[in-house]
Amino acid sequence: MTHITTVSTAPIAGQKPGTSGLRKKTPVFMGRHYLENFVQAIFDVVGARNEDGGGKTFVLGGDGRYFNDRAAQVILRMAAANGAARVIVGQGAILSTPAASHLIRLNQTDGGIIMSASHNPGGPNEDFGVKFNMPNGGPAPEGVTEAMYQRTTEITEYKMLEAQDVDLGRVGRHQLGAMSVDVVDPVTDYAALMESLFDFPAIRAMFAGGFRMRMDSMCAVTGPYAVEILENRLGAPKGTCVNATPLPDFGGMHPDPNPTWAKALMDEMFGSDAPDFGAASDGDGDRNMVVGRGIYVSPSDSLAVLAANAHLAPGYRAGLKGVARSMPTSAAADRVADALGIGKFETPTGWKFFGNLLDAGKATICGEESFGTGSDHVREKDGLWAVLLWLNILAVRKQSVAEILAEHWATYGRNYYSRHDFEAIEVAKADAMMAALRGSLAGLPGRGIEGMTISAADDFAYTDPVDGSVSLKQGVRILFEDGSRIVYRLSGTGTEGATLRVYLERYAAGPEGLELDAQEALAPVIRAAHALAGIAGHTGRTAPDVVT
Ligand code: G1P
Ligand code: ZN
Repeated sequence: MTHITTVSTAPIAGQKPGTSGLRKKTPVFMGRHYLENFVQAIFDVVGARNEDGGGKTFVLGGDGRYFNDRAAQVILRMAAANGAARVIVGQGAILSTPAASHLIRLNQTDGGIIMSASHNPGGPNEDFGVKFNMPNGGPAPEGVTEAMYQRTTEITEYKMLEAQDVDLGRVGRHQLGAMSVDVVDPVTDYAALMESLFDFPAIRAMFAGGFRMRMDSMCAVTGPYAVEILENRLGAPKGTCVNATPLPDFGGMHPDPNPTWAKALMDEMFGSDAPDFGAASDGDGDRNMVVGRGIYVSPSDSLAVLAANAHLAPGYRAGLKGVARSMPTSAAADRVADALGIGKFETPTGWKFFGNLLDAGKATICGEESFGTGSDHVREKDGLWAVLLWLNILAVRKQSVAEILAEHWATYGRNYYSRHDFEAIEVAKADAMMAALRGSLAGLPGRGIEGMTISAADDFAYTDPVDGSVSLKQGVRILFEDGSRIVYRLSGTGTEGATLRVYLERYAAGPEGLELDAQEALAPVIRAAHALAGIAGHTGRTAPDVVT
């Protein structure tokens, strides 16, 4: 007989899930009762049993970072102790975030637990994270994460099954007390979903014709997915995928696919023998960066191009219901939505705000400036999905990335765009800066600066068009009469001090001035952003740490 132990514990301060789950330094997560308390809070809120007493089914997997394997065993023992009937686990406790979302939906489960700190570095002294996804496959909404947090402040005990580890290396059914553990190949179902959405024969023919690509998985979770889909199924030459073995410390890489952290890929794509197409994805596989030969595609532009061309892929042949973007994302996608005569939505930062729009059939494609794009095929952003949609478009249009972007800007105009991040600022200083900025908003409209005139200034508030819920204080927006825009907000995912994000945008209608360097085109907007918020005065910073 297996035995269930009830362990006495006490609340641990600060177990408050942020934009995407609870993220902390790995040693914190490995501390006494830390993981256990949070996991018990999850089960206390969502329940491991149904109303009729029968056990629920969950999905479990993670991005393979340090502590992923041991945390999975703890979560399994706790799921069994709390009365779950079945857990579907990726082999080796590996699942990319979009693949986990797909498995939750495919098997009509009661949700899933994903172990990841996304694009944050992994390792004994780096970051770890745990998040809960709902039965629709999407991140838990604020009401649910808030209830989990409340529970962590009251917790007095957690339940644990006394048992040895489950062999997560072996695919098939295992037993843990009364609970079944189904270990599945992490790639198979996801790859089948991709094959159902995209024109694999056309992409295969493109590779067979000599098309060259570099896929950089940054030693994180997408490696096995990319090798199976791009090399095995689509016939891309061996070696197309690099850094394709997931490592507990991501090989020391910072698995955040942007020009700063995916520098090797950028250097190759701008070098003399550059391939036709380059892409990178993040720790848990939900983010993507795409690059053409000698040309970088900003995530905001990528969203717009994907929306304008999605009908070229079989899965989207019937057209899009609508396009949604996070508020700080550029308005380039809005112009496509207007041209297509479909709905457009502006949501707060964080993928969870897209869930209702996707569930209600109001939007088909969604995106964030932070290298996230996805569609209604799952309820998370999906890095490889975006890469495959780009490949599908390239295969059908038979043009280069540069040609496709140039035609796009000629048609819609160009929204020059950049994000400047100021990291590890003292929290009090960042808060004081934001408070002062918020206090100054009423006096800004009508004011001239850097040759531009401010037309409006506010703190973004969002009313969900589906459930009517309201989210306040989602970022300060300053709009200019010429269509330029500055947005300021503090990160909700950082683990060290405060990160100030400044989002900069300027619209050029064309036909002249569409091919400038983004930082050059944005220079007056950048100067205005520093002056209006007094960034240097408040934080002592004169230049950003990361520019994307
Ligand atoms: C960041 C991104 C945001 C994304 C989130 C999770 O959040 O800016 O778009 O949804 O990571 O990947 P932030 O740190 O800005 O709160
Ligand atoms: Zn991620």
